[in-house]
Parts: sequence; structure tokens; C-alpha cells
Amino acid sequence: MTPLPSQPQHLILLFLSFSFLPFFSLSAIDTFVFGGCTQLRYSPNSAYETNLNSLLTSLVNSATYSSYNNYTIQGSSPQDALFGLYQCRGDLSMPDCATCIARAVTQLGGLCSDTCGGALQLEGCYVKYDNSSFLGVEDKTVVLKKCGPSVGYEEEAMGRRDAVLGALVGASGGYRVGGAGKVQGVAQCVGDLSGSECQDCVGEAIGRLKSDCGTADFGDMFLGKCYARYNTHGPPVFSKAHHGKPFLTTTTTTTAISLINLMVMVRRHLRLSLGY
Ligand SMILES: *[C@@H]1O[C@H](CO)[C@@H](O)[C@H](O)[C@H]1NC(C)=O
Ligand SMILES: *[C@@H]1O[C@H](CO)[C@@H](O)[C@H](O)[C@H]1NC(C)=O
Repeated sequence: MTPLPSQPQHLILLFLSFSFLPFFSLSAIDTFVFGGCTQLRYSPNSAYETNLNSLLTSLVNSATYSSYNNYTIQGSSPQDALFGLYQCRGDLSMPDCATCIARAVTQLGGLCSDTCGGALQLEGCYVKYDNSSFLGVEDKTVVLKKCGPSVGYEEEAMGRRDAVLGALVGASGGYRVGGAGKVQGVAQCVGDLSGSECQDCVGEAIGRLKSDCGTADFGDMFLGKCYARYNTHGPPVFSKAHHGKPFLTTTTTTTAISLINLMVMVRRHLRLSLGY
């Protein structure tokens, strides 16, 4: 199937976001956050498909021993070249990272079947692949912004929130976590950014959280290569143990699966209306 001539040269990701979980602390690591696919598609049974399968297999295997990795596949012809990476949240154990990436890749297969590029964020990990290289390129595009209900200006809570966010900016490294009282914050960069690029990206995400979410009781800001999130009423989180209440975890996982089904339907509908 050839792309429509009217399609823009650059790849457009149709991000459909269903970040319906304010209590990210209680969420299972494989809870869906957002996903998107390029409009460009490859032909089934092509060399591109073979290369993509091999790339995704490499990502899944690598996640058993590394929390970040990138792969480039130079196809036999330039149009078969392919780039991919994954990033696990910094607090995940290697077995949890491997599980998360395996689930993300499975979900991507359902969401983005035969598209040249795709990206998926679960609570615990991120996977992206495309046929144009994005490796090592900083990207501060807002992919998903979610602000909780405003709690009005509660001086103490907002003071703590600002202190936690300030500490995240002041920290270093790809994974940053902090808390004060019931206020919790976390930031994560994708591992292909340099230290200074990560700093720049996290600073941007936190600046946007403050300006866009105002006095919201939680905020999620996912940019192209990093994210920052806070929650003013969460229990202590982000340890390696699973603190989720079992019933909540089960419920949200089920909801996530039905939302993915919904997304696949939405996508089919979009394709129909776009004339695919
Ligand atoms: C990606 O693949 C599409 C479809 O095969 C092709 O039109 C496009 O030129 C490719 N992009 C790059 C950067 O190779
Ligand atoms: C990609 O992976 C290679 C090999 O592990 C590494 O040397 C390189 O720095 C990575 N590139 C980026 C952009 O992360």
C-alpha cells in the first residue's frame, strides 16, 4: 500500500491519550499512558517488516539486562533502515523492565500494525521506533499533558509541590524522584539524551507543569524525550516494591486493555476517514 500523495513529508504521530490515572503511584507498571503511530505504512511481508520484527526482538532481549538501549538496523536499501529505542523508569528492577518492554512491544504490535513508526508509553517504560532517525535528538514537543482538578491555592501543599519540583530540576541524572509530605514528584529522560539535554528537557517539563497546571492536585507532562509528574496526595511511591492495592491494579489494567481496544477502533475509523 503506497502512502497517499497528500501526506506531509514529516511523520505525524497521532497521539491518543488516555492518561486517566491520577494516582500513578498505585498504577501497575504496564498501565497504558499514551501511544501513537505514524501515518506512513510499510507493505506486509516486506524487508521492512522483517527488520522491524528483528528490531523489536532486540529491544525485548536487551531489556533483560539494561534499562535503556537503542538499535539501528541498516536495511539492504536505505528505505528499509530502521531506528528504535526503549527506556525503563529508573526504579524498575531488570525483571520488571523486561516485563514492561515485552508488554509495550506487544501492545505496539496491536496498536501500530504495519505502520513505519510507533511509540508507546506505559507507566514503567517507553518504546519508540521509526524509519527516520530520532536517536540522540532532543525533543521537547508536548506529547501528553494532564492536569488534575484545581485544589485552589493551598499554600502549604503548593509550597511543597514547588519545592519538590525545584528539587527535581536541581537533581541530576536520567531518573529523578522526590517527595515532601504527601507531595511526590518524578522525572525521567530517555537515555539517548546527554546530561545537559536531559537537564534542559526536565526543566522545560517542570516549567510547563507549573505554568499549565497551576494549582492542580496532580500534573503529568510528557515531552518527546522526557517527562515530569507530580501528585499532591499520593502515598510514598517509586520504590522497587509493588505498593499498588491489588484490586485497584486489576481494575486499572482491565480498563487499560479496553481502552487499547477502543484506540484500535478509533484508529481503524481514522484510517477509513483518511481513505486508507
Ligand atoms: C519511511 O518509509 C516510508 C514508506 O516506505 C517512506 O515513504 C519514507 O521515505 C521513509 N522515510 C525515510 C526517512 O526513509
Ligand atoms: C546507541 O547504542 C550504542 C551501543 O550501545 C551506543 O554506543 C550509543 O551511544 C547509543 N546512541 C544513543 C544516541 O544513545
